[in-house]
Amino acid sequence: MLISDPQAALSRHTFIDQFFALRQATLSLFDSIPPETFCHQAHPDFSPVGWHLGHIGWTEGLWLLPKLLREQLTPPDYNALFAASGLPKTARSQLPPLQEICTYLATIRAAVLTEWVKQDFQAQEWLAWWLLQHEAQHGETIQMILALQAPNPLNTTIIPVNKQITGMVTIPAGVLKPAAPSLLLLDNEKPGLAEEIPAFQVDQQPVSRGQFQYFIESGGYQTEQWWTAEGWAWRQTHTIQQPRYWHWPVNSDHPVCGVSWYEAAAYAAFMGKQLPTESQWERAQQVLQAPPLSEIPLATPRNHYTSSLSTSPYGFGQVWEWTDTWFHPYPGFCSSPYPGYSAAYFDQAHRVLKGGSFASQALIQRPSFRNWYQPQTQEIFAGIRCVNT
Ligand code: AVJ
Ligand code: FE
Repeated sequence: MLISDPQAALSRHTFIDQFFALRQATLSLFDSIPPETFCHQAHPDFSPVGWHLGHIGWTEGLWLLPKLLREQLTPPDYNALFAASGLPKTARSQLPPLQEICTYLATIRAAVLTEWVKQDFQAQEWLAWWLLQHEAQHGETIQMILALQAPNPLNTTIIPVNKQITGMVTIPAGVLKPAAPSLLLLDNEKPGLAEEIPAFQVDQQPVSRGQFQYFIESGGYQTEQWWTAEGWAWRQTHTIQQPRYWHWPVNSDHPVCGVSWYEAAAYAAFMGKQLPTESQWERAQQVLQAPPLSEIPLATPRNHYTSSLSTSPYGFGQVWEWTDTWFHPYPGFCSSPYPGYSAAYFDQAHRVLKGGSFASQALIQRPSFRNWYQPQTQEIFAGIRCVNT
């Protein structure tokens, strides 16, 4: 270890603080959940929350421990159970109890810290920050799965839209600034784009539940004209009539949350607008807000019933915002740490989402961060912001 290098010591300490803060936030999600919920598959596309917890620890061992040590510390059945490529999601309900998984997580964590006393932390620094963001993303998925099972989800979680700043605003033509170099950038964000973006108009707030209610009450779900062909087929097969996490009476000022890309695109068409491309979204964010990624944001002990700390007057960071862009590599893309992370999803079947939600850690809320899901996915904390070009 480069003990004489104060910079190295600083980055290691900054990291370790975050490492513990995030773990505390992750574990707090399990504070008061019944054992049935821990193992329950709430939706065919998502694993039980307990699986995500084990997977977080297993992945930490995979990337941060030497093979031999990892094998010593991991119970044999955990390898099949908690690898992303292991058992199918439907076979992930037979889990060790919460306490056992927590002990496993603590064992892996202690070994990782011991390794960093022996070895140069800087050699693993990027991977360590990747791993932290991996845990943060699974933490959000855990909150989604809990929300799917909650009687009255999201009622107190989302900050209302700002009614002082409404309507659309013109974003002048200009060049998109590529993300500044940072240890946090994931493979799919690099090397970044410096694109020329023509002028366009953008909604100053995410679409509210009240606005979406107007779409519902105007027969939006029954009017084929607003929907793409695949979207209409999806709406009919699944008899979709409203977003997920929707309850009457409608909390009109909250951003709509729990819409698929199909619903977002139908709403935009109904309004005579479009969904932004991901470049337009980033350009709008840069012109309206532009918080530079100057320092590493702190992990906050959020749980599924605490509000976001986000204070954007434009409502960024309350709900993920669907874009019109398929998830794709930027020119010069280099897969890291493994092709299954991003490259496996460059398949013209996943759309990019931007901005983060009330359930996202600040660690992943940055303008360049790209999330991706299939267009029919309704369970994520996603909403809508439209443009006019
Ligand atoms: C980018 C959020 C879609 O959770 O499936 C976690 C992130 N990749 N473990 C997901 C991820 C591997 C991914 N998303
Ligand atoms: Fe994962």
